[in-house]
Amino acid sequence: MIDKKIIIKNIPNAIDKVNIPKLGKRNSGKVRDWYLKDNLRILIATDRISAFDRVLGAIPFRGAVLNLLSKFWFEKTRDIVQNHMIGVLDPNVMLVSDCQALPVEVIVRGYITGVTSTSLWRRYSEGERIIYGIKFPEGLIKNQKLKKPVITPTTRATGPGGHDEPITAKEILKQKLVPPNIWKQIEKVAIKLFERGSQIAANGGFILADTKYEFGLDKNGKLVLIDEIHTPDSSRFWLKSTYKQKFKKGEEVENYDKEVMRLWFSEHGYTGKGKPPKLPNDIIVKVAKRYIEVYEKLTAEQFKIDLSIPQKERITNSLSALI
Ligand SMILES: Nc1ncnc2c1ncn2[C@@H]1O[C@H](COP(=O)(O)OP(=O)(O)OP(=O)(O)O)[C@@H](O)[C@H]1O
Ligand SMILES: [Mg+2]
Repeated sequence: MIDKKIIIKNIPNAIDKVNIPKLGKRNSGKVRDWYLKDNLRILIATDRISAFDRVLGAIPFRGAVLNLLSKFWFEKTRDIVQNHMIGVLDPNVMLVSDCQALPVEVIVRGYITGVTSTSLWRRYSEGERIIYGIKFPEGLIKNQKLKKPVITPTTRATGPGGHDEPITAKEILKQKLVPPNIWKQIEKVAIKLFERGSQIAANGGFILADTKYEFGLDKNGKLVLIDEIHTPDSSRFWLKSTYKQKFKKGEEVENYDKEVMRLWFSEHGYTGKGKPPKLPNDIIVKVAKRYIEVYEKLTAEQFKIDLSIPQKERITNSLSALI
């Protein structure tokens, strides 16, 4: 069991980046670092955590949770669509096939919620009834379950600070962002993935409210599910046990992700501009515990990790065969 003491002890060892010059040039997104080797991508989930589109610190074991959760889901969904996973070399490292990423993010929503400009609730509450080219009925309430899950794609933001823009299926085809036969396949596959995800999440006591998928094409032009799947970073998980009651009372449902951290920053007057305040240990512990809890509930397995050596050292050892 990873308790408070272990988490605090590991704060100085949290993985901020993984630099292995022998693997070549390190690339990095907000959360992952990666190295490219032939047609392979060595995808390393670090412990970095972002909010307001910025990296704001590192949470021990968060990277391992994200990577191992993706592994779990890739295995549980490979009958629906092929995915990029070749193997897991370390709790934080997945070896994947490098694909040509499609320039859209495929968001599937089973519930109407959210406050940002791309979210359904925001736009519905501002009076729109045709959103992402989909018609919504009158009288919907925030956080209500939709009759059927819907696909609300966005174009992928390019460059730092870029924002994803909403787009309709029609525009995706018109702008030739995705070939028509591939888009048709994506629409089918995305709904199936979401249904599978919802079923398994329900067994763990969660509602999968919405999620984001990324797809790519392999060298033969075949569709591949890439990036991460059904993690708290790409998805909104709600607690099943409290949802109904909170929804009925018109109370906000609790988001099982980095909400605790976002709130702490907001309470300290930080919303993404300037130098962020340093996260205190008790918030780091809370967030780390939450990630571990989500992992354990979704997979029905205990989260285990080798604590005998520092994490970065363990990762380098795990990758030694590739160096
Ligand atoms: N198999 C794959 N082939 C090509 N690209 C991939 C594959 N799997 C993941 N990626 C890309 O690798 C990156 C992973 O890094 P990370 O998730 O940290 O980035 P991000 O901060 O979410 O987004 P970005 O930097 O793309 O705005 C993403 O850009 C993702 O699209
Ligand atoms: Mg990402």
